[in-house]
Amino acid sequence: MPDTQKQVVTVGVTGASGAILAQKALALLEEDPRVARIHLVVTETGQRLFAEELGISAGDLRQLPARILDRAAAKIEILPNKDVGASIASGSYSVDAMLVIPCSMGTLGAIANGISDDLVARAADVMLKENRKLVLCVRDTPFNRIHLENMIRAQQAGAVIMPAVPAFYDHPKTIDDLVTQYVCRVLAEINLPQEKMYRWTGHSASKEAKA
Ligand SMILES: Cc1cc2nc3c(=O)[nH]c(=O)nc-3n(C[C@H](O)[C@H](O)[C@H](O)COP(=O)(O)O)c2cc1C
Repeated sequence: MPDTQKQVVTVGVTGASGAILAQKALALLEEDPRVARIHLVVTETGQRLFAEELGISAGDLRQLPARILDRAAAKIEILPNKDVGASIASGSYSVDAMLVIPCSMGTLGAIANGISDDLVARAADVMLKENRKLVLCVRDTPFNRIHLENMIRAQQAGAVIMPAVPAFYDHPKTIDDLVTQYVCRVLAEINLPQEKMYRWTGHSASKEAKA
């Protein structure tokens, strides 16, 4: 596939629980031949979550992608969240899709209300204004009314709200099964369907039992 036909994807990682979801998404994007480049932005609390949940410390930010993948990260460019003048902060720079994974209620609120004072929120704002694909992998529990109203605002502005909720109908055995299937569904939303994505065919044990 020529590079011009490959996707450029932005991945925002915020301080909601689920750093493992970001890690899996980055690993699948990195190995996907349909992806040319990945711009990665991790908020300050997002960095804390990588440390808390996966034992990955930020240290020198430039080394973070390789530490997340535990191997060289050829396609990932990390951008400081404070740099609201980065390439992805402008609509004139072509990005095909953006994931915020996981997406905190704080960043959801910023995006839903057009408060673009960091790069994650500004890049998301640009995706919406340019009618490009934006997927928000929101996570908290329970949701309060403000969270729910912000989800409606963001969805009505064009975002896909993809709560970090696993499915069980594919009979997952491990946490990796749960994470992989959720992330496959997220990538399908940005036109990067994965071979390993489970697809429901209508067959179920309950139907079998009734037969
Ligand atoms: C260990 C830890 C877990 C957290 N989990 C969540 C969460 O699941 N959802 C959420 O909305 N906020 C969560 N927070 C709070 C956010 O990190 C906090 O609101 C932060 O200001 C969000 O900033 P950010 O969106 O710039 O990353 C968590 C914080 C910590 C330290």
